[in-house]
Amino acid sequence: MSLITLNEKDHEKSNNSRMKLRPSVPNSVKAGFFLSLNSGKIVEIDNLSIRPYKVSDQDSLVQCANDREVWRNLRDRFPHPYTKKDAREWIDLVSEFSPVTNFAITFDDQCVGGIGLALNQDVHRKSGEIGYWLGKKFWGLGIMSRMLRPATDYFFSAHDIVRIYAFVFDWNPASAKVLEKAGYECEGKLKKSVFKDGEFCDQLIFARISQER
Ligand SMILES: CC(C)(COP(=O)(O)OP(=O)(O)OC[C@H]1O[C@@H](n2cnc3c(N)ncnc32)[C@H](O)[C@@H]1OP(=O)(O)O)[C@@H](O)C(=O)NCCC(=O)NCCS
Repeated sequence: MSLITLNEKDHEKSNNSRMKLRPSVPNSVKAGFFLSLNSGKIVEIDNLSIRPYKVSDQDSLVQCANDREVWRNLRDRFPHPYTKKDAREWIDLVSEFSPVTNFAITFDDQCVGGIGLALNQDVHRKSGEIGYWLGKKFWGLGIMSRMLRPATDYFFSAHDIVRIYAFVFDWNPASAKVLEKAGYECEGKLKKSVFKDGEFCDQLIFARISQER
């Protein structure tokens, strides 16, 4: 795989939301957005990155994952409460995957969330399901609006797939919004397909199709 540098137009697409964390970054620095194998980072924008998990992420991972409001928007296999043991087991598990498909989202190299791609099998083998989350104190800052498009571009470039999709509980409009901003389209609603936290909810399915293949 080669180093991928996106042009300014692509960068603007990933950057079209407000970024409150560091609002006055000069264009020359913004243009440094890249996917780099050397650093292990697959996306880097200003002080945000997406990189493989490290054992040293254990404490920051627990701090942001151990939250009922995060858990409520994810599948039940995401533990709650989220303990140090859960964090260690997750980091050990995903570190064994080759290629790496689950990554930490970091701010100043501290883990603030996660993003991953589940590759499918059999007749679905040209598709992957994307999932992502942030610790609650990092919500609403425009982080996922900036990271989801380049992360999706990376997953398309790294895997032999033409379709990336995500399921969103219908009580989660923020997630639907970030998917739309990253170029995903809503393909439909799966009524009462989820039973979460003692309630049924409808699920929206969003997908982005690769224009390259
Ligand atoms: C979903 C999630 C990843 C969004 O990330 P984020 O960095 O907070 O999102 P952003 O700040 O980039 O953007 C959120 C967008 O949703 C919008 N939004 C937030 N709450 C909303 C609501 N109740 N109704 C409509 N839009 C809403 C915001 O206005 C913003 O859009 P804008 O930039 O056009 O104003 C984050 O909230 C999260 O981790 N939630 C818990 C886990 C989760 O839901 N994971 C996804 C499972 S499918």
